[in-house]
Amino acid sequence: MSVLEAKMVTKQYQMGEVTVQALAEVDFAVAKGDFVAVMGPSGSGKSTLLHLLGGLDEPTSGEITLAGRPISRLSDDEVTIVRRRKVGFIFQFFNLVPTLSAAENVALPLLIDGRNIKEEQQKIINLLEMVGLGERADHKPDQLSGGQQQRVAIARAFVNDPEIVLADEPTGNLDSKSGTAVLNLLRQFCRELQQTIVMVTHDPRAASFANKVVFLKDGNIIQELPIAHNDGHEEDIRAIMRVMRELEL
Ligand SMILES: Nc1ncnc2c1ncn2[C@@H]1O[C@H](COP(=O)(O)OP(=O)(O)OP(=O)(O)O)[C@@H](O)[C@H]1O
Ligand SMILES: [Mg+2]
Repeated sequence: MSVLEAKMVTKQYQMGEVTVQALAEVDFAVAKGDFVAVMGPSGSGKSTLLHLLGGLDEPTSGEITLAGRPISRLSDDEVTIVRRRKVGFIFQFFNLVPTLSAAENVALPLLIDGRNIKEEQQKIINLLEMVGLGERADHKPDQLSGGQQQRVAIARAFVNDPEIVLADEPTGNLDSKSGTAVLNLLRQFCRELQQTIVMVTHDPRAASFANKVVFLKDGNIIQELPIAHNDGHEEDIRAIMRVMRELEL
């Protein structure tokens, strides 16, 4: 069964007289434990798709189902709760709260959901250890490198055992070594903990860590490519680049 499904999803933005068609009748499904990369040129609708999948914005038409619930038909309050409990987000610029420590940033989604943080301490420590930052729990974001900040953001995204984690260019602001660490972690969360991830990226090497790459052009999904090794393998990178050339992306 799919964790996340988009059916005939269209998104239009009205800019005065002009209608911008950001997504056109997109069908998309993600199974539990899947790691899907979304690629496509600038303006092809990647971020729009991610925002709709995470309930940050509403489709103009079509339906999005998350863990069996039609989020495109819920009230704003209901969507907020679904988003809080079922979705984790990872952004290009980390978006950590600068005044909070690494551990407090990881705990934030639980706090916002009204959970008792005292009872969750062990989980927060475990997550920080999993992302290699057990020794940095008390550091503020400005006392961490970019790669470390993104690893805190990863721990935060998974802290509420979400149905899905959505990542928009999570390696876009990192050097290649920190980027690889982030991609290996995402891979590990899927493989070992059966977590589910949709990641937008421009980088064929980043995409080669996924199980499947979906190519967007002008608001349409125009091709899907299964990935054999899911670990930055040269063969997979070449296959992705070949499709990009063929599709003129
Ligand atoms: N809030 C908005 N209002 C109007 N138009 C928008 C809005 N957000 C996005 N668009 C338009 O929708 C289209 C898709 O934008 P989107 O941000 O999804 O692209 P993208 O694939 O994420 O691009 P990039 O790789 O540059 O991040 C673009 O033509 C963009 O100009
Ligand atoms: Mg974008």
